[in-house]
Amino acid sequence: MVHYASMIDFRSDTVTVPTPAMRAVMAEASVGDDVYGEDPGVNDLESFAAELLGKEAGMFVASGTQSNLCAILAHCQRGDEYLVGQEAHCYKYEAGGAAVLGSVQPQPVAMNAAGTMDLDTVAAAIKNQPSMGHFAHSRLLCLENTHNGRPLPIDYVDAAQSLARERGLALHLDGARLWNAAIADDRSPAEVAAGFDTVSVCLSKGLGAPIGSVLVGSAPLIEEARRWRKMVGGGMRQAGIIAAAGRHAIEQHLAPLANDHANATRLAEGLAAIDGLTIDGPHTSMVFVTFGDEHDPVAIAERLAAADIAMFPGPTARLVCHLDISAADVETTIEAFAAALS
Ligand SMILES: Cc1ncc(COP(=O)(O)O)c(C=O)c1O
Repeated sequence: MVHYASMIDFRSDTVTVPTPAMRAVMAEASVGDDVYGEDPGVNDLESFAAELLGKEAGMFVASGTQSNLCAILAHCQRGDEYLVGQEAHCYKYEAGGAAVLGSVQPQPVAMNAAGTMDLDTVAAAIKNQPSMGHFAHSRLLCLENTHNGRPLPIDYVDAAQSLARERGLALHLDGARLWNAAIADDRSPAEVAAGFDTVSVCLSKGLGAPIGSVLVGSAPLIEEARRWRKMVGGGMRQAGIIAAAGRHAIEQHLAPLANDHANATRLAEGLAAIDGLTIDGPHTSMVFVTFGDEHDPVAIAERLAAADIAMFPGPTARLVCHLDISAADVETTIEAFAAALS
C-alpha cells in the first residue's frame, strides 16, 4: 500500500493530518452527550461558527455531504425540487441523497468552468407557475463557493440571489471551501455567506480538522435540519472531541490559507515554465495541469510517486496545496515535474 503520509500529497486538501496542537485540544476537550444537547464543545462550535458566518444558529455534522443533505431536506418537501449546477458537489457527488432520502428532485443546470450558471437558464428552469399539477415545485437554489477552487464572482452571487428572491426560492450555499473565497476576495466569512438562508462549511478541507462540517442558518431551519441529521444517523454523542478540533481549525488555520494560495501561485508559475504542460490556475489553493499528448499521465504520476509526490493521474491533474505542503515542498515538486517530463 502507498504510504501517502510520508509523501508530498497534492491529491486534495482533505488529506491533512491533525497537528500536535490540534491533537492536544482534542485530548483536553470537555464533553457530554450531544444528542441531549449537552456537549459543551459542540454547542460552542455551533454558536461560534454561526456568529462567524453571520447566521442565527449552527449544527455540527460529520461531513459536507451530510450538511448539504440536511439543508436540502430542511428547505424542500417531498415532490419539491432544488436547482443546482450540473457539476456542483450537491448534485453530482453526493450519491443522489436528496432524491433517495427526501424524494426531492434535483434540477441540474449547465455550469461554466467558473462555477456559475447562466441565470436566464436558471430562471427558465424554475417551475413555480401553475402547471395543472405537472411540475415539481421549485423551492431552492444551491450555489457552490468556491467551485474547483474558483471563488464565485460577487456580482454573480448578487444577481443569483436577486433572481431567487424574486421567484420565491430559498438559497443554500455549499461553502465547503468558503474560507478560501473569503481569503482570496479579502472578505469576511460572514460577507461571503450573506444573503443565503443556509450555508454549509467544511472544517476538514484546507482548515486541517480530521472530520466535520457546520451548517448555519436561521434557528427554525437549523432545528428542522437537526431532525434530518438524526434521521440519517448523524446524531453523535461525545462529539466535543472533534468539535474542539474544528474550532481550533478555524481559529488557527483560516488565515494561513493565504500560504496555500501563495504556494499554488508559485507552483503554477514553476510548472508553466516546463515544456509539455498547460497550466490552469492558480485558483485559490488549486492548480490544474494538462499534459501534452506526447506524455502519458499515468507514467508521469508513477515517476512523481517514486519521488514521493502524490497526485491523481489523468489528462488534467488537479494539484491542491494545503497545510501539510510547505513552500520548500513546492520547489521540490517543480524540480520533480521537470525531471519526470525530461
Ligand atoms: C464543494 C464540496 N462540497 C461538499 C463536499 C462534501 O464534503 P465531505 O467529503 O465532507 O462529505 C466536498 C468534498 O470534497 C466538496 O468539494
